[in-house]
Amino acid sequence: MKKKLVCYMVMAALAFSLLVGCSSQVVEEKPQEAVTLSSYSGTKVGVCIYQISDNFMTLFNNELVNYLVSKGFSKNNIIVYGSANSESIQLSQVEKLIDEGVDALIINPVNSSVARAITDKAVSNGIPLVYINREPSGEEELRWENYGFDVTYVGCDARQSGIYQGELVLDLGLDELDKNGDGVIQYFMIEGAPENVDAGYRTMYSVSTIKNAGVEMECLLDEVGNWDRVTSKLLVREGLSQGLIPELVICNNDAMALGAVDAIKSGKLVPGKDIYVVGVDALPETIAAIEDGDIAGTVFNDYILQSHRAADAVMNYLQGNGNEHYVGCDYKKVSAKNVQVIMKMILNSGSGDGGQDN
Ligand code: BGC
Repeated sequence: MKKKLVCYMVMAALAFSLLVGCSSQVVEEKPQEAVTLSSYSGTKVGVCIYQISDNFMTLFNNELVNYLVSKGFSKNNIIVYGSANSESIQLSQVEKLIDEGVDALIINPVNSSVARAITDKAVSNGIPLVYINREPSGEEELRWENYGFDVTYVGCDARQSGIYQGELVLDLGLDELDKNGDGVIQYFMIEGAPENVDAGYRTMYSVSTIKNAGVEMECLLDEVGNWDRVTSKLLVREGLSQGLIPELVICNNDAMALGAVDAIKSGKLVPGKDIYVVGVDALPETIAAIEDGDIAGTVFNDYILQSHRAADAVMNYLQGNGNEHYVGCDYKKVSAKNVQVIMKMILNSGSGDGGQDN
């Protein structure tokens, strides 16, 4: 109860800091050229987010807008569209942004195959382009390299998040996990989206990391939860109601881990005792759930660093400095052991007030 109270207080502090616009204390950033803040005030940036209702992308987008504002961009000149998970909607939004005269584009593509058409539109109009969160194909990235396009991708290597999830599970110990004592870990896998790079790698690497440590695994259910809490809840509830009894639920993100916890509780089981759950992202609600013991661990998907690096890449292009065609970031493991440290880090590295979706 006390822990929960502390957590709520920290969450309240986070919300407060976002409201009052605390000064940004940016970590691990590339130094920027000295530019006066006013030099970006007339610069227009167009942003497309694959689906604005995605909890993680909302955090990402808010931080991106806040950071751009802290660098002197005018909030009115940052145009954000949610693309409703539709390729055609996203393509028409990109065209609209170009017609509106944006100076740079930051795009979270609906999928990797839409990237080629978006790149062509940006490049033919001389507009620098930064992709975020969903990596375009290797073939597409090679094109940027070969033709010297002002196009880059900023994101994390999802293989690392899968490995970290596996390590978090291993840290729990076989004795703790193996509730039925058969020497095998029975598990559910709840995947993000079909053909999504993050989903594929996280699924593959979480399990292989556990297996490579000599632990036997048995998959009882493997379903696509579309990164969504309610979908995941329904899937896990359905599995449990069929009499499947997992010892572990591995989810490709936190929204789905929270949904798994909802289902476990509604099945009158205790998450973190009868069944362990792991996610990826470190959403504020997951941090609280780790404190409560409902979620065993998550992997911080550093949306702060990723959004700052995406904005920095835009500024580099605008100043004619260019960028590498791939800008990476590291994930971080989060469990009960370090949740406080991670929470403080998140509080200290955000940029304060800003974001609002169009
Ligand atoms: C995040 C998910 C998010 C997805 C969107 C992933 O990296 O972990 O929470 O839904 O990106 O593309």
